[in-house]
Amino acid sequence: MSFANSHEIVTNQDGLNENLTEIVNKHIKHEFKKPYHPRSIEGFKQVEQAISAAGKPVIFDSCCGVGDSTINIAKSHPDHFVIGMDKSGHRLSKNEAYEQHGVDNFMLLRTDLNDFWRLAVDAQLEIVKHFILYPNPWPKAKHIQRRWHGSAVFPAIVALGGELEMRSNWRLYLDEFAQALSIAGKSATVNEFSPQPSITPFERKYQASGQALYRLTASL
Ligand SMILES: C[S@@+](CC[C@H](N)C(=O)[O-])C[C@H]1O[C@@H](n2cnc3c(N)ncnc32)[C@H](O)[C@@H]1O
Repeated sequence: MSFANSHEIVTNQDGLNENLTEIVNKHIKHEFKKPYHPRSIEGFKQVEQAISAAGKPVIFDSCCGVGDSTINIAKSHPDHFVIGMDKSGHRLSKNEAYEQHGVDNFMLLRTDLNDFWRLAVDAQLEIVKHFILYPNPWPKAKHIQRRWHGSAVFPAIVALGGELEMRSNWRLYLDEFAQALSIAGKSATVNEFSPQPSITPFERKYQASGQALYRLTASL
């Protein structure tokens, strides 16, 4: 990842995606039935065991990349257990040695969140906070279904509950997510903000490039 020269998002949309409402309604009405990958089930079992051993309220750090945010959140929430998840094992491996961080109230898991979130909902896992920091934007209009609010797993994000915090350098992504939440009967707030200190590599990169950053919060 190159530093301090990150490009602003370029999109062919001039407002909320025109198909957003239809797509979100479709996903709310029809359950996402894709079978779970056995690896996802195995990973979820590991998480359940770790949660029960930790005996602390749970925070999800979804799409955690290398896991820097997971460790930072674990440090600022010593009475919680933080689970950082990403599908890229290559990224996660950088931070796997727990001892190097001086905190042990976290774990990192390689998993596909399209499965993991649904498994957590099925198991009625309780989470108090849910961070989704700098999800991939997929800025082309035709890729709306790759954004989390346009994906079939969106209802599971809502059903998971907790205090949701999403961050992005693309306000439209968060405005669309807020609109999707409102279709699901939830309200959200989107603000420009300046994280002090920054807690993820992407956040550091965008700040160093002088880009505005935005945050969505919602009580689910
Ligand atoms: C732009 S990066 C942001 C990483 C980190 N949050 C940060 O701010 O540095 C988005 C991350 O989402 C992860 N991701 C995308 N789709 C995923 C999925 N289905 N399951 C798990 N992780 C996923 C990618 O692997 C990538 O690491």
